[in-house]
Amino acid sequence: MRTLAVLSQKGGTGKTTVAVHLAVAAWAGQRRVLLADLDPQRSAAEWRRVRAGNGPGLIESKPGALFVAQQAAERAGVDLMVLDTRPCGDTDTAEAIRAADLCLVVLRPSFFDLKATQRMVR
Ligand SMILES: Nc1ncnc2c1ncn2[C@@H]1O[C@H](COP(=O)(O)OP(=O)(O)OP(=O)(O)O)[C@@H](O)[C@H]1O
Ligand SMILES: [Mg+2]
Repeated sequence: MRTLAVLSQKGGTGKTTVAVHLAVAAWAGQRRVLLADLDPQRSAAEWRRVRAGNGPGLIESKPGALFVAQQAAERAGVDLMVLDTRPCGDTDTAEAIRAADLCLVVLRPSFFDLKATQRMVR
């Protein structure tokens, strides 16, 4: 199993949109996909509730619970776990980064986003 974390320092940059689209694309490509909503806003979970028909699995995870959820997903035969994170969640973000094989940082092409992202990457 591979784990992809979608991150950004700023809010509203498009993390959930990217996470959901990547999860659906991988699911449509016959992968077993689990989208983990780590954001207390639960946007990805809201999306999953209104999506008609089949699609990627979704879990709502709380801080500190990701490692156990990841182990369970691995045992269940999931190929790809996509983590949708909240903005500026220092501890949560660190947890997602530790869990991830790859981190995808989403940002707008603005001065403020670039500066905040430089700090985040450091
Ligand atoms: N590529 C895009 N082009 C235009 N609008 C977009 C794009 N991606 C996302 N949006 C819009 O931007 C808004 C924020 O998107 P989204 O909720 O995915 O961001 P987010 O980073 O997950 O936000 P949050 O930090 O609140 O979790 C939404 O209204 C979404 O429809
Ligand atoms: Mg979001």
